[in-house]
Amino acid sequence: HLHSAPKSSFDCDKPSFGIAFDIDGVILRGRSPIGDSPKALRRLYDDSGSRLKIPYLFLTNGGSIPESRRAKELSQLLGVNIDPIQVVLGHSPFKNLLARLENELVVATGKGEPAVVMSEYGFKKAVSLDEYASYFNSIDPLSPYKTWATKQPCNEQRESSERVLSFDVTIERVKAAFVVSDPVDWGRDIQVLCDILRSGGLPGEKSEHQPHMYFAADDLEYQAVFPFERLGMGAFRIALESIFNSIHHKPLKYTSFGKPNPFVYKNAESILMQLDQSLTSDADLNGEYKDMKSHHFKTLYMIGDNPSVDIKGARQAGHPWFSILTRTGVFRGKENHTDYPADQVVDTVEEAVEFILQREG
Ligand code: G3P
Ligand code: MG
Repeated sequence: HLHSAPKSSFDCDKPSFGIAFDIDGVILRGRSPIGDSPKALRRLYDDSGSRLKIPYLFLTNGGSIPESRRAKELSQLLGVNIDPIQVVLGHSPFKNLLARLENELVVATGKGEPAVVMSEYGFKKAVSLDEYASYFNSIDPLSPYKTWATKQPCNEQRESSERVLSFDVTIERVKAAFVVSDPVDWGRDIQVLCDILRSGGLPGEKSEHQPHMYFAADDLEYQAVFPFERLGMGAFRIALESIFNSIHHKPLKYTSFGKPNPFVYKNAESILMQLDQSLTSDADLNGEYKDMKSHHFKTLYMIGDNPSVDIKGARQAGHPWFSILTRTGVFRGKENHTDYPADQVVDTVEEAVEFILQREG
């Protein structure tokens, strides 16, 4: 039965490798698979399609729903069985801030369900900016004109309009503001964030202390459904920062997470290692690969569409990362990118997987 045990990518006979896939512009455009991206993913499973053969994960700067729900959604859209551990979102590192902010009032903004994301991470007093703003009469003078906001309420708005907070946001200071995903109402969000940030966390008050400001990512542009790039969270950050710095005497202090930060790639590496070990748990039980933990990946592939995010990050992360740039998203060039050249340029993600499997023999 030893022979039937699944082979580890750490197996001595085989080079060890893992793959990180960007989502927007590589795997999906909006909610539609790009080309036959599901087929590319299926190649990483055994013939039955249920057992993972090659450790891979999604490394996206997007988000707006908890990892477990995104895993379910991706499984449905792509027709493969994706575990929540394989889904690393832009805002995933926010959970590491829990120790400091667990019981503090924090506001969260972005499309989808930003406060639900934060609550699932364990933040006990996370309030969406929608809900927060609703407690301050006329904080947004333009809201009476925003008829669209009432036409398409998302679940969170419906839920939050019914929920009763056990604390009073009109007297308690906000300790931190989080941009969890791309903001929907830039004007309102910039206004209310400026109010929070320049008042020490309570609109209208005076304080020299700026609450912490965190962004899940800093993508200037990304590939959505429209044929040309759309403005991303980095563009929102520039708008907020530029306005804040013009109305306040101290420049905005903030932290951005997501690619291309090197720690994102380090984290991906350790998750891939965990995945690889779980793929070989049968083999591990019979003691065949006892020393496995001391091994490292020989190559980790980052497949992305954005040179200044995905490829820049992989280049900065260095060994064992190998970058593959597709032409299905932000990048459409004929040759390689000039400022952030990838190790390999291909047309599609199918081609990228074919290249990897060939290269790894
Ligand atoms: O909003 C999503 C965008 O910023 C990037 O997503 O998957 O290309 O990293 P992705
Ligand atoms: Mg992308």
